[in-house]
Amino acid sequence: MKARGAVALVTGANRGLGRAYAQALIAAGAAKVYAAARDPSSIDLPGVVPLKLDVTDPAQVAEAARSAPDVNLLVNNAGIARIDSFFSEQGVQAARDQLETNYFGTLNVSRAFAPVLKANGGGALVNVLSIASWISSELLGPYAASKAAAWSLTNALRQHLRGQGTQVAGVHVSFIDTDLTKGLDVPKLNAADVARLTLEGIEAGLDEILIDDQTRQVKRSLGSDQAAYLAPR
Ligand SMILES: NC(=O)c1ccc[n+]([C@@H]2O[C@H](COP(=O)([O-])OP(=O)(O)OC[C@H]3O[C@@H](n4cnc5c(N)ncnc54)[C@H](OP(=O)(O)O)[C@@H]3O)[C@@H](O)[C@H]2O)c1
Repeated sequence: MKARGAVALVTGANRGLGRAYAQALIAAGAAKVYAAARDPSSIDLPGVVPLKLDVTDPAQVAEAARSAPDVNLLVNNAGIARIDSFFSEQGVQAARDQLETNYFGTLNVSRAFAPVLKANGGGALVNVLSIASWISSELLGPYAASKAAAWSLTNALRQHLRGQGTQVAGVHVSFIDTDLTKGLDVPKLNAADVARLTLEGIEAGLDEILIDDQTRQVKRSLGSDQAAYLAPR
């Protein structure tokens, strides 16, 4: 799927990686970019079509699919991360909240837009996942579980939508320099680079877009006795 000429919709496009996706799509020559956000007035990118969309609200998701019937490239980017352990006082709530946005939100939007993609020739559906789909840690446990669930969802969507010619890709990536990682003292990737590499991966027809070396190493380890998810973190 080529970004040039595509009609794209990016969820959570008002800031962070979603904004970088919208910007990269415009730069790559997309015909139209719907920039979806809970608060469309927070969209500051020129040249995009703002759209109100809370991915956890079924009525808003249905309305978005009606308002954007020409979409052929869907980027499920909206997500939240709570730095919290399963064993903290609010550990169960943190797990529910992150599943609600990162898993059910992605599911809601994918279900609503699958017929739209079909009507527009198949197109592509891209889910922003994480290196945390495959590894976990004490404070990222609930987040990692939501991304593991979203990875499995992505694999199911790929099977379901193959028949209608929709390319389904998962983006796996380690830390990116956005609000989500504010306060984390770790090496971080640039959001614009992640967006550009994602578009290259979509154009190359990849099922899984592994953005950085650390993510590629983790993926490679999965079938070995020293799988990365077994290592202490
Ligand atoms: N940053 C990283 O290190 C990293 C690494 C791997 C994967 N990711 C993934 O990349 C994606 C983007 O994250 P980011 O780093 O750009 O985070 P961010 O800067 O915190 O931005 C998150 C975006 O998601 C939106 N969002 C949250 N809940 C939503 C909802 N219910 N409906 C619609 N939009 C919602 C936010 O909108 P509001 O402005 O309304 O809150 C915001 O636009 C997420 O899926 C995240 O899990 C991030």
